[in-house]
Amino acid sequence: MKKKQIITGVAGFVGFSFCKKLLDKNKQVIGIDNLNDYYDVKIKKSRLKILKKNKNFIFLHIDLRKKEILERKLRNYNIQSLFHFAAQAGVRHSLLKPIDYVENNICATFNILEICRIKNIKHLILASTSSVYGFTKKKRVNETLSTDKPLQFYAASKKSCELMAHSYSNIYKMKVSVLRFFTLYGPLGRPDMALFKFTKGILEKKKISLFNYGDHKRDFTYIDDAVNAIELVEKLKFKKKEFYRIFNVGNGRSVHLKKYLKEIEKNLKRKAKIKYLPMQKGDVKNILSDNTKLNRYKEFRKRTHYKIGVKKFIDWYRDYY
Ligand SMILES: NC(=O)c1ccc[n+]([C@@H]2O[C@H](COP(=O)([O-])OP(=O)(O)OC[C@H]3O[C@@H](n4cnc5c(N)ncnc54)[C@H](O)[C@@H]3O)[C@@H](O)[C@H]2O)c1
Repeated sequence: MKKKQIITGVAGFVGFSFCKKLLDKNKQVIGIDNLNDYYDVKIKKSRLKILKKNKNFIFLHIDLRKKEILERKLRNYNIQSLFHFAAQAGVRHSLLKPIDYVENNICATFNILEICRIKNIKHLILASTSSVYGFTKKKRVNETLSTDKPLQFYAASKKSCELMAHSYSNIYKMKVSVLRFFTLYGPLGRPDMALFKFTKGILEKKKISLFNYGDHKRDFTYIDDAVNAIELVEKLKFKKKEFYRIFNVGNGRSVHLKKYLKEIEKNLKRKAKIKYLPMQKGDVKNILSDNTKLNRYKEFRKRTHYKIGVKKFIDWYRDYY
């Protein structure tokens, strides 16, 4: 029987985008998601509808918090790698409902680690976030920087997942690659993120909120580039005696939020109505990825300029809505 790949959070933005790429390459994928309603479930269903057209795709509607069900449903499958993208994401929501992060990030990741151990899965690829870097004076952050002082609970929960994975990799000699993503965006993206909210607000002639009075800089990373990185890392050989490794996945270019907004306005041919707000608790002002580790590989070196990425997103948005 051909080995399958597992993707958790397959109805989410990253899980879907990566799954599509694997299916396009004729791989067999088992996708898992509980379709929670953190944001509009319609977009999750739209993503799934696209994936379900492919005969190599199996969807399991499972909640990762339920370990026994997970174990039972996966019992008969022979698995190659497991891509764990399911999570409770979002910094702002973590200020309101931190328990969601304990359950869907920490507990669910523990269950995934157990599945990897029980099923002897050779490689776990774990999604983490640039938020783990917290506040730093460094212009660019690299993977060796301390991540001991998370500024909010989302970051704390993701860092906890990294730590749990590290201990499992050490004890059970399980291969783990952690990917720290920097603000991803693109078609079928997340409705709770800036590009989506700005585009929607401008088109609906509603006021959009600019935290920190718009004086943020972000490393906006186009989804196709992140998907290339995931594909690359899965194939990259581990060094001798290496079981755990971390990679930044960013664009490597810092874009001011106001410049990003200008690009959206230009594409929509409309001006935004802006409500300026102070810095949101737990946010960082600027963050920029040091991509030295993945830049060694040509598959990751060519990345999408934000002006091209924003245009592709808006073309998709107009078409979808
Ligand atoms: N999108 C970004 O900018 C970004 C940046 C940094 C890190 N990340 C990380 O990348 C990963 C994917 O993010 P995303 O943007 O695709 O988020 P997303 O919210 O679009 O996708 C996550 C998916 O996981 C599912 N899920 C959540 N809890 C679950 C549970 N208990 N059982 C089963 N399914 C569950 C959700 O229903 C959702 O479809 C996450 O781990 C996130 O922390 C994303």
